[in-house]
Amino acid sequence: MKKKQLKELVNNMSLKDKIFQLLQLSGSFYQDAPDLVTGPKAKLGIEDDAIQNAGSILNVRGAEKTKAIQKEYMETSHNKIPLLFMADIINGFETIFPVPIGLGATWNPELIKQAAEVSAHEAAVSGIHVTFSPMVDLVRDPRWGRVMESTGEDAFLNSAYAKAFVKGYQGDADDLSDNNIIACVKHFAAYGAPEGGREYNTVDMSERTLREYYLPAYKAALDAGAKMVMTSFNVVDGIPATGNKWLNRDILREEWDFDGILISDYAAIKELEDHGVVENAKEAAKLALEAGVDIDMMTSVYANHLEEVINELPETEKYIDEAVYRVLELKNELGLFENPYRVANAEKEEEVILSDKHRNLARKVVNESLVLLKNNSTLPLNLNQKIALIGPYAESTSLSGSWSFSSDKDSTVTLKDAFSEWLNSDQLLVATGSRVVESEFLKDSLGNYYSEEDDMKLDEEAELKKAIDYAKQSDVVVMAIGEHYLQSGEGGSRADIELPQVQKKLVDEISKIGKPMVGIIFSGRPLDLKAEVNQFDSLLQAWFPGTEAGHGIADVVFGKVNPSGRLSMSFPYDVGQIPVHYNEFNTGRPLEDSGHSKRYTSKYVDIPNKPLFSFGYGLSYTTFNYTNFTLSNKILRKNEKITVSVEISNEGDYSGKETIQMYIRDMVGSVTRPIKELKGFKQVKLQPGETKTVTFEIDESMLRFYNREMSFVSEPGKFEVMIGSNSEDVQTLEFTLEK
Ligand code: NOJ
Repeated sequence: MKKKQLKELVNNMSLKDKIFQLLQLSGSFYQDAPDLVTGPKAKLGIEDDAIQNAGSILNVRGAEKTKAIQKEYMETSHNKIPLLFMADIINGFETIFPVPIGLGATWNPELIKQAAEVSAHEAAVSGIHVTFSPMVDLVRDPRWGRVMESTGEDAFLNSAYAKAFVKGYQGDADDLSDNNIIACVKHFAAYGAPEGGREYNTVDMSERTLREYYLPAYKAALDAGAKMVMTSFNVVDGIPATGNKWLNRDILREEWDFDGILISDYAAIKELEDHGVVENAKEAAKLALEAGVDIDMMTSVYANHLEEVINELPETEKYIDEAVYRVLELKNELGLFENPYRVANAEKEEEVILSDKHRNLARKVVNESLVLLKNNSTLPLNLNQKIALIGPYAESTSLSGSWSFSSDKDSTVTLKDAFSEWLNSDQLLVATGSRVVESEFLKDSLGNYYSEEDDMKLDEEAELKKAIDYAKQSDVVVMAIGEHYLQSGEGGSRADIELPQVQKKLVDEISKIGKPMVGIIFSGRPLDLKAEVNQFDSLLQAWFPGTEAGHGIADVVFGKVNPSGRLSMSFPYDVGQIPVHYNEFNTGRPLEDSGHSKRYTSKYVDIPNKPLFSFGYGLSYTTFNYTNFTLSNKILRKNEKITVSVEISNEGDYSGKETIQMYIRDMVGSVTRPIKELKGFKQVKLQPGETKTVTFEIDESMLRFYNREMSFVSEPGKFEVMIGSNSEDVQTLEFTLEK
């Protein structure tokens, strides 16, 4: 349809029908599709007319179901404008990739783009048009459960991933191909910074911090072409994001020129009442509409109250017209007016979903997401040994995090399955050892969402005994341990981020036996691992790796693949340090070189300042050496560039991939600048004995920040450039930006 026809369509619609286009309901309102939504099942109090004419629905999956719903809808709705199907395709559709914090650890945006392409293809043939992904919220607090869905703590790295996700879902070209779906970037804005790491809590930060660190990844997603944005649940400077005109109109639409759809998060318009910024649902509708929210996700606020708002304030109807136009425009771009079913096709689903190609990619992504945190040469494992595989994750299929749906469990490769492919049956002893977490914890914290399936039925005493026996019989113990997948994700904030106590007990018992111990850690967040670092000889951070978990991990454990993952979020030494991130300020009394007495420096008296494992950290089976670090010039002039160059040699026995990281520090600014900021990274593969030169360029635009007047500019003066294999282990040179 042409632009003009779309405009006419909007003009010919009744106010009621226009409002219904802005309503999004879950699939359970249509046919008997299961309701896979995450939030409370709201009792909407909504009329049938609204349901029959709603504009979009969420979280229905499968070609047959989506087609049946669309068919019935087209027969019963009076405008015959097809429904949009949206869903949370977060780390895969049926082929599940590692959770995003694991994807972040690949430092390989090109690979993440390929993973997003696979997710888009599988989702598209099942009838989905839009995914509520990527979540690009910057995170500094691992207590927050949704760090699992973020790619980490750094604006530069998150921006690279944001772009990769969007290009992967929507494709590189301007026009969508059949295999593409629409990306909805979320949660706008700063949802990743709730006070105390407590879910849905207040966010309070300066505009400078917001603009400098939290906003860039959303902007990067939009620059890459993302056609949708979702609001966040939190307040920003006292005003809930969903009713925040400054964020949604002034920044998003005016400053950034965004002309796509803005959707509320689940029930967030209704929750404006709970925030105490409006008295009733009608006011909530008015506030959200004026703030620029186009679609109301899963409440009746728009559907039941916008008409009244327009009757009282006729001039606001223009906002509705704009919003409806945007919704119709997206439907048009997807080709739904010509074919409401688009590419939904059950036969294609069979062919595409979980295909060998997709699974192979998932395995590669697992390989690259694993971060070797410690290694006393126990890894890779010697294939002639007898191995005891112990822990609640040894045979578990709950390896995909909280956004994957139960249907994928049968296709998930467990550690035991994969280890069996490498070892003779008499070389592998497998014991669960303990439950993942105390049953009471699950019951208490999940309430109505508790399901026996997520719990573990086992004779704890017998399991522990078996684990101890097997450990004694083995040459090496591999422990598959971690948090429960429901301890992270939405609603999964934790105050204590250690391993669950039941597993700590198991580790204590096994470590008494004195065998070499390898720990494989499954989690949706950086855990506090300071106890385990002493107990284990080697530690491999595995996140929740998805469908190809077992294969991907076994490749690394048995040395087929040399681990190359790097942390995109710091692992704190202790929760007391949180928020802890590498790009901190120096403070007036830094711990090192401050000239102050030890007492009156910025530090804790009981724990170190540094995290246990820093941003960018990750070991390899080989050793990389950095030499000949040089700058092409010590002076940087505006409109010119400096080339940074360094030689990397592989000095060990394994071929491997190294991630070379470049950080920059502005030594003096009109406002305090961080001690370092990531400004570039590159990956190189090196054979043993091989050396390669890696170069980066620095130009003036990379040195800009929000100055005292909140202008985004660079300031002449001295800078340090640091090159290294993580944010702590760097070599430093200086240069000057000329006036
Ligand atoms: C609430 C979550 O915050 C959001 O990320 C998700 O996309 C929606 N629910 C829809 O499921």
